[in-house]
Amino acid sequence: MSRIKFFHEEDLPLEMHKVRIVQKLNLAPIERRLQAINEAGNNTFLLRNRDIFLDMLTDSGVNAMSDQQLAAMMVADDSYAGSESFFKLAAKVEEIFGKKYFIPAHQGRACENIISQVFVTKGSIVPMNYHFTTTKAHITLNGGTVEEVVIDEALVLNSTHPFKGNVDIDKLRAVIQKNGAKKIAFVRLEAGTNLIGGQPFSLENMREVRKVCDEFGLLLVLDASLLADNLYFIKVREEQCKHWSIREITRAIADLSDIIYFSARKLGCARGGGICTNNQAAFEKMRELVPLYEGFLTYGGMSIREIEAITVGLEETMDEEMINQGPEFIAFMVEEFQKKGVPVVTPPGGLGCHLNAMEFVEHLPQTQYPAGALASAVYLISGVRGMERGTLSEQRDENGEECFADVELLRLALPRRVFTLSQIKYTVDRIAWLYENRHLIGGLTFVEEPKILRFFCGRLATTSDWQNKLVAQFRKDFGDNL
Ligand code: F0G
Repeated sequence: MSRIKFFHEEDLPLEMHKVRIVQKLNLAPIERRLQAINEAGNNTFLLRNRDIFLDMLTDSGVNAMSDQQLAAMMVADDSYAGSESFFKLAAKVEEIFGKKYFIPAHQGRACENIISQVFVTKGSIVPMNYHFTTTKAHITLNGGTVEEVVIDEALVLNSTHPFKGNVDIDKLRAVIQKNGAKKIAFVRLEAGTNLIGGQPFSLENMREVRKVCDEFGLLLVLDASLLADNLYFIKVREEQCKHWSIREITRAIADLSDIIYFSARKLGCARGGGICTNNQAAFEKMRELVPLYEGFLTYGGMSIREIEAITVGLEETMDEEMINQGPEFIAFMVEEFQKKGVPVVTPPGGLGCHLNAMEFVEHLPQTQYPAGALASAVYLISGVRGMERGTLSEQRDENGEECFADVELLRLALPRRVFTLSQIKYTVDRIAWLYENRHLIGGLTFVEEPKILRFFCGRLATTSDWQNKLVAQFRKDFGDNL
């Protein structure tokens, strides 16, 4: 059941859980928020929690855990080597994904480090539906190049295409034929394609990708970090899977993959990561790097308690009523924004709701980081922290030139089971106000720009006095309200 029928009201997504532990929130006045965003160099990553009302930066490591997960953490079998908790997790991974070799790692990018070090060499090409920031950084660090082969529709922000994360099979073939199969390190498929708005791929498309991999003898690597949302979308959007269980869809996807890796900060609602495969040779090569970068093979940089929580979390991911909560709340938020004319990415994806900054602040050129400026403005007027997913999140090319992102998005992530509908309504209302006053939003420019993954720690200044003007307008319209 995804949406409950209401008799007198509009249908709404309904929580299939109850809240038993809460954390008090603080909504600081706008003047304090102005100070805070400047102290943070207009980078929402650098804000402190005490200044944030609703944290929609990410779902990474902050999804609500279940009572069963917390209970399991209490019986963890702590040890450096040979922990039973590890074997429990490995057995759960094998049960769900059907892969007998499991490598633990402390988070998703650690898996990317291991996979890239083993398979990517200077001159390697890695075709993929779309890149993720840390994925690309690891591949390029090892001398490889990312080739995006996503369908053209992926970059159409207002679309009705149900699977904008699909690979364009002709583009994939063209990349392989142009470079020769020998140069292809592997083909990567990202579930719930993060940077283009959490958009899924279809099972049918994955089958086509698999066929091409078989034809050219290539490994297919699945990034399953955002698999939960993708599974749900396959279930509700792909006709042939309508009557399949989530477990059956998962197994079908896993059977098409040679290597699966995931951030358990996302998949499994805990903190950690892992790689699984049935390919013994690949396993043995990857395994060598684990004690060097992660820790011993039976913990891989994770706390044993988190390992217990992941085991339960993976099992809970097989529950349709559990995994529908994210996509259904996101769809609700997207629809509310649409009613108010605020430009959002459609169809609604997983992970969060994505504002289209290129349209929201169309007066700002990409050189002034429209999505970054929007993130700063949204925090200022609401205390809601989002994440820039645009040019700031790209890296400069080898000549130091800016690489403009295909899309400029402000992501409002909805960690699963964390926010209530009224908190979502507050967010929509404040941002709709901002949209009416969007002409007041100005640009940003770097004052400190790190070379690698600059969006995490870079600091920016406003290009004019626009923030004070926004505060004045806010006070005019909201009086002494927060
Ligand atoms: N792959 C995908 C698709 C991701 O979304 C992430 C993380 C990673 C890999 C890396 O995993 O963070 O555990 O090292 N995404 C986070 C986000 C950071 O906020 O979207 P990690």
